[in-house]
Amino acid sequence: MVKIVGIGGSLRPGSYSQLALKIAAGRAQALGAEVEILDLRSLNLPFCDGENDYHDYPDVEKLRNGVKQADGLILATPEYHGSVSGALKNALDLMSFEHLDGKVAGAISVLGGQVNSNALNDLRTILRWVHAWVIPEQIAIGQAWKAGSALKERIERIKLTSKKSRHLEL
Ligand SMILES: Cc1cc2nc3c(=O)[nH]c(=O)nc-3n(C[C@H](O)[C@H](O)[C@H](O)COP(=O)(O)O)c2cc1C
Repeated sequence: MVKIVGIGGSLRPGSYSQLALKIAAGRAQALGAEVEILDLRSLNLPFCDGENDYHDYPDVEKLRNGVKQADGLILATPEYHGSVSGALKNALDLMSFEHLDGKVAGAISVLGGQVNSNALNDLRTILRWVHAWVIPEQIAIGQAWKAGSALKERIERIKLTSKKSRHLEL
């Protein structure tokens, strides 16, 4: 069975990007994948200091092992100051080629303003650097604060297999 790990880049309790990730994870599960969400809000992770060992933070290994064992990733980031959130970037910085090389990755960005690809483009650059394969399809959800319960409906409209819509603006 294909194993997918989902990581959301917001630590906010009512996070829309975590909600979007949950919905996308549900879609992947419905397609037959085993999906695990590694919730950064419940992991105790340090800032990456460039060293390899974080003995005081066992959750670093939990994150690394979860990702290493996965075939693919779904990463959902809020757009913060025109880019990927620091929390998600830090989680990715805590890993290396050993964990991320060869993973197939899908990306979602959620933002307060008008839809754009800024965070998605930066996420692609980061993932390319660690030799992950980012799929052409991507999802950007603008003005998330307006979405409320409609967010689920908006995400469910996505046809993951659609070749025409490689960039979905919701
Ligand atoms: C530090 C910070 C920076 C932000 N920068 C942007 C931004 O550059 N563009 C934008 O459209 N929204 C920006 N926002 C709004 C968030 O993208 C928006 O509130 C989003 O819903 C947050 O994701 P979450 O709901 O998963 O927490 C920013 C919010 C914060 C807290």
